[in-house]
Amino acid sequence: MASSSSLISDTPEWNDLKAHVEEIKNTHLRNLLTDESRSQSLFLDSDGIVLDYSRQQATLETIQKLFKLAQAASLKDKINRLYGGERINSTENRPVLHVALRASRDAVINSDGENVVPEVWKVLDKIKDFSDRIRNGSWVGATGKPLKDVVAVGIGGSFLGPLFVHTALQTDPEANESARGRQLRFLANVDPIDVARNITGLNPETTLVVIVSKTFTTAETMLNARTLREWISSALGPSAVAKHMVAVSTNLTLVEKFGIDPNNAFAFWDWVGGRYSVCSAVGVLPLSLQYGFSVIEKFLKGASNIDQHFYSQPFERNIPVLLGLLSVWNVSFLGYPARVSMESNGKGVSIDGLPLPFETGEIDFGEPGTNGQHSFYQLIHQGRVIPCDFIGVVKSQQPVYLKDEVVSNHDELMSNFFAQPDALAYGKTADQLQKENVSPHLIPHKTFSGNRPSVSLLLPSLNAYNIGQLLAIYEHRIAVEGFIWGINSFDQWGVELGKSLATQVRKQLHASRTKAEPVQGFNFSTTALLTRYLQ
Ligand code: F6P
Repeated sequence: MASSSSLISDTPEWNDLKAHVEEIKNTHLRNLLTDESRSQSLFLDSDGIVLDYSRQQATLETIQKLFKLAQAASLKDKINRLYGGERINSTENRPVLHVALRASRDAVINSDGENVVPEVWKVLDKIKDFSDRIRNGSWVGATGKPLKDVVAVGIGGSFLGPLFVHTALQTDPEANESARGRQLRFLANVDPIDVARNITGLNPETTLVVIVSKTFTTAETMLNARTLREWISSALGPSAVAKHMVAVSTNLTLVEKFGIDPNNAFAFWDWVGGRYSVCSAVGVLPLSLQYGFSVIEKFLKGASNIDQHFYSQPFERNIPVLLGLLSVWNVSFLGYPARVSMESNGKGVSIDGLPLPFETGEIDFGEPGTNGQHSFYQLIHQGRVIPCDFIGVVKSQQPVYLKDEVVSNHDELMSNFFAQPDALAYGKTADQLQKENVSPHLIPHKTFSGNRPSVSLLLPSLNAYNIGQLLAIYEHRIAVEGFIWGINSFDQWGVELGKSLATQVRKQLHASRTKAEPVQGFNFSTTALLTRYLQ
């Protein structure tokens, strides 16, 4: 077992997997997939979700070795410590309790000996009441008109999670129906073009602005907040801010200082990491305003379902654990650096500050539908090996059946979902191409090595509940990876560096513009660029 001051890579279990890589390099998915009992063992149907990981470059032995690694990393103990409200985010001395955000009203989740669930539900009840009043028109704007549009201002975790859920819900029939006549927009970038795009076509009289910021200090968000405050008050007068601006934050003092009534502020807590905050008021408020609280409550229930699954299922049947272990296998052993997620796992040191001799985290990218196929899949098929996650649903949100078509539109889409993983796994040999009479000079170009790993996740549908499940699977997967690597998945000091350099530049711009001070203190390149910009 790895002690708290040693690295997981020093354990026999890690070295055993390292040695095992050589064996795996001699296998090909083409052959592995002929073993049906292997495929059956690597196919899981749990909590309504199918996970097929038979197209991973892994044998049953690999999986057993990964379970042993999980044991060496005390994975179960770390999961228990997360759910137990311990301060596992040690660099910030905070618990990591996003699971409490979607716990049922009667659940007990303690942090420092205190059950946090009643506090969570106090805010959820406040959101329900507020969003009901906005939606039924009993809360009106400064000129007496109902507020039908919402601009949520926030960045990073205070934006991307809510945007993901909004994008997925937009086409869900139930959600769509309850959003009728309403618009939800997100303003994240500080680029004035983004401000213009977001307010174009909106009337301040009928718009509610929600400022979403955990710290209420993030430069981009606060500047955008001031810009929209100006937009409202120049159109409707300064007193209109009280009716047209509300906030989500852990820093209620700064919210009040900004000029937003604390009664119109929705709290969350420092035990919610920014990147894990979509189930707090960060996501629940704007999404409830758009779709109604009852729809978003289903989303929370879906996430909670996976929280229970993650906590209680044995590793062999635990979707986030399996996905996390496979990521560790792909990144740290097979050396495949890419996949898709939102996280804080790109670390160079262990949680105890020891330099890591192995890679952590993944470079993430992806694309809905078959757009990816028509753009970057060439790289995946014949370029670098990039493990893929294919996520599909059995039932479309909006099925279309055209009378003269062989299959429905959804079947057409899903044909690709089923075909791509096999295309990547099997590839195509020169032999096969010869048999197809492909002209010899084209054979090297049309040969595919295959042996490219993927997992397939199949959900029953994409309603609010399933979206919650999907979100929680990916959140917990990141935690599993971090627990195995022995890093802190819940802080992000790397992001701070860029922020402090931007502060230095901001000061320079101000000094040059107001006092004509020359650009100084930067390297040649930055000095030249800044000087050119200021001319
Ligand atoms: O820079 C990263 C980060 O701190 C994220 O964790 C957070 O989601 C984002 O910035 C925005 O921060 P805030 O919610 O405090 O405005």
